Amino acid sequence: MDAIGTMNITRKFNDLVAVDGINLKIRKGELFSLLGPNGAGKTTLVRMLCCLLQPTAGTAFIMGHDITKDSFKVKGLIGVSPQDTVLSERLNCWENLSLVGKMHRLSSEEVRERSKELLQTMGLMERAGEQVKTFSGGMKRRLSIAMSLVHDPAILFLDEPTLGLDPQARRAVWEHIALLKKEKTILLTTHYMEEADSLSDRSGIIDEGKIVALGTPEELKRDFFTGRSIVVRAENIPADVMQELCGRYARVERTNGGVEISHGDLDFHEIVEYLFSRGIIVSSATLKQPTLEDVFIQITGKKLRE
Ligand SMILES: Nc1ncnc2c1ncn2[C@@H]1O[C@H](COP(=O)(O)OP(=O)(O)OP(=O)(O)O)[C@@H](O)[C@H]1O
Ligand SMILES: [Mg+2]
Repeated sequence: MDAIGTMNITRKFNDLVAVDGINLKIRKGELFSLLGPNGAGKTTLVRMLCCLLQPTAGTAFIMGHDITKDSFKVKGLIGVSPQDTVLSERLNCWENLSLVGKMHRLSSEEVRERSKELLQTMGLMERAGEQVKTFSGGMKRRLSIAMSLVHDPAILFLDEPTLGLDPQARRAVWEHIALLKKEKTILLTTHYMEEADSLSDRSGIIDEGKIVALGTPEELKRDFFTGRSIVVRAENIPADVMQELCGRYARVERTNGGVEISHGDLDFHEIVEYLFSRGIIVSSATLKQPTLEDVFIQITGKKLRE
């Protein structure tokens, strides 16, 4: 049985199709990252899977339970950290965590034990007794993740768990997610491609409500990225040479200390020889492996979204 299985799940807002007939299967124990530009439909999909929003067509099953018919069962199995952090600002960390724990019928003892552990991991212990309204954005985010974990759910939905976190906190959160990975099924959304690349078992790229690419990060790079890039280090490439390069190759970008050139069928030697022939001293030229971000941009384009 899949942990999550969607069947043509769709959500419209008047004329706008935010999620457009998605069929997706996520296995038990899998860490699946949903990547996509702003407005692609990630949060809408997550909200439907968490029974916070009704699909307008299709449905999904969480551990075999239909989200449209059995939301009570589904809610018992999942933990959610929403994109817009929802906390009770007048309560402190312990009280916020206890609220969720009680909702899931944990004993006071259990709540306390779990809270202690989570507050420590999330680096919130020192401020745990303070009202949440005095917290920074990053601290609120970390508390929100802790709240999604109090009842030790089998399935975790993390909608941009590292949004607005500083690099230290982001690492701490990702390390924690990596630890959870072994025991839980996790669906997360993120705009941090590097993190998705290193942690995900599989990723799906969503654009305009549809899954447009699906696979392990390695498969995505192999199957969806066409073209190669070469990074050349060379000083003082004059404007006319840059212009000529632009005329020959698909993408040419001046970098700090040289130029990066991408093209479908790139001839490494041809580029270096051409630069030599123009009297440019090349100190190094290396073939660049595509990153998940390269794949993302190639698939979803460069146009800014809403
Ligand atoms: N309650 C709503 N009413 C009307 N339109 C909505 C509503 N919620 C979402 N939308 C629209 O649905 C589309 C998808 O939004 P969604 O929040 O799912 O995107 P997202 O992929 O999570 O984007 P982001 O990366 O910015 O968080 C957007 O065009 C958005 O404006
Ligand atoms: Mg979102």
